[in-house]
Amino acid sequence: MGQAETEGRTVMMPRIGDDAPSFEAATSQGNIDLKDYSGKWLVLFSHPSDFTPVCTTEFVEFQKIYPELKQMNTELIGLSVDSVPSHIAWIRSIEENFNTTIGFPVIADLDKEVSMKYGMIMPGESQVETSRAVFIIDPDQKIRSIIYYPLTTGRNMQEILRLVKALQTTDEHGVSTPANWQEGDKGVVSPPKSQEEAAERSQEDGIEYIDWYISKKDI
Ligand code: BEZ
Repeated sequence: MGQAETEGRTVMMPRIGDDAPSFEAATSQGNIDLKDYSGKWLVLFSHPSDFTPVCTTEFVEFQKIYPELKQMNTELIGLSVDSVPSHIAWIRSIEENFNTTIGFPVIADLDKEVSMKYGMIMPGESQVETSRAVFIIDPDQKIRSIIYYPLTTGRNMQEILRLVKALQTTDEHGVSTPANWQEGDKGVVSPPKSQEEAAERSQEDGIEYIDWYISKKDI
């Protein structure tokens, strides 16, 4: 776990492979504890601020992918440094203006407790708002992927879905996933670890052999 200082406070910078920092937090749906998400995948994301335009478009789109995430045993939690009443008011406004009911909880991280633990504040960009961070946490509560976007750029929901699916596919089938991989595409077989394995690779059944270091297989 890396760390940095801002406003005299320690900002933890979790990395891929670290245990997800524990937290209990107040949300738009009551109090939650990270521990209660054990056994499920989790997409934990931060947004800069309630009642801002790009964040509003993101919330509508996060809600659209939420049913698909649930089908993938994956929960979704939002976070900003706004209060619970602010979250409630904004969620009601989204419902009115976009006919969209936000079904996932949104953490009210007023004291920045969770955002500091997850390195969601980028002081060079904003001292007060959380950046657009996405943490993908696996059922063992390990951080498996981290995405950061700047304040001014809305995230791509299809990429978040693709990333969760790719991580789950790797766990289930023991393959890596190539560039632009989509569900149904072949996976990449681990490269050989010895000259002997390299020599044997071309003879292996059930793989698409391209060269000794790159082969694919159906999954
Ligand atoms: C927005 O969501 O539109 C936004 C929030 C903070 C900074 C810039 C844009």
